[in-house]
Amino acid sequence: MTKVLVATEKPFAKEAVDQIKTIIEKAGYDFALLEKYTDKAELLAAVKDATAMIVRSDDVTAEVVKAAKALKIVVRAGAGYDNLDLEACSANDVVAMNTPGQNSNAVAELVFGMLISMVRNAYNGNAGTELRGKKIGIHAYGNVGLYVAKIAKGMGMEVYAFDPFVSADTIKADGVTPVDSVEELYATCQYVSLHIPANDKTKNSINYNLLNKMPQGAVLINTARKEVINEADMIKLMQDRADFAYISDITPDNKADFAPFTGRYFFTPKKMGAQTAEANINAGVAAANQIVDFIKNGNTKFKVN
Ligand code: 3PG
Repeated sequence: MTKVLVATEKPFAKEAVDQIKTIIEKAGYDFALLEKYTDKAELLAAVKDATAMIVRSDDVTAEVVKAAKALKIVVRAGAGYDNLDLEACSANDVVAMNTPGQNSNAVAELVFGMLISMVRNAYNGNAGTELRGKKIGIHAYGNVGLYVAKIAKGMGMEVYAFDPFVSADTIKADGVTPVDSVEELYATCQYVSLHIPANDKTKNSINYNLLNKMPQGAVLINTARKEVINEADMIKLMQDRADFAYISDITPDNKADFAPFTGRYFFTPKKMGAQTAEANINAGVAAANQIVDFIKNGNTKFKVN
């Protein structure tokens, strides 16, 4: 028996689940679904006899990997794989993959959805501001950054980017201005959109000194991970600067501390960037196809461990 488990605390759209199921069953495997689980024990029980698993932001800890005695592959249907314990996967001969790029447009659209709401005062009747002609900085020019750049240019914004792993020529070719340092990006742009992964180097790296370089009327848009923000610094900065606003696609740990900054923050209650039918279908179908291609042909193209 080859069981492919879709384990998603935050469920995919129904169309995505249907398409994943079709791919898995067409390949001759058994399809299993665990959605909206509230207890880790449910996940531990479901993975027991799974050969393959598709997850989203679900934590695949060493405990989960250990419980999944038959597991050969886990695919994070999405970009960031900070929720996978890669060491545990490798130690147990489990291939870990992601599906880069598949949900990027959805995240980029949310950047502007949230930003427009902020600069229009959440449509409360007071005059807001426009984005046209303003400077937006893209911190990390990967798949999401690229879509953010395209949309921003369509809106008539000046677009800047910083990414030590992408050449200046590549960035320039998209009509985006590359900058030499992260400090320069923040000092140049009134709006900064964050797209760095969460890892040991980036966690807590967005700190007071960096944020304080931003011009008047600054807005930081975080659709990356809450862990990359130094939250205590963010709170102090918002106390010190009444012009500073923070938007985050996930609620910070200390949400109550932001209460005094009414109108200058917005947090989604659940990570919503990739929560569209299209992104669910793209990432879910890619994950299912990657599993079939791995089991049948040994293809490890998207392996991250
Ligand atoms: C990603 O890393 O792909 C996004 O953060 C989406 O996460 P989600 O699948 O939990 O919505």
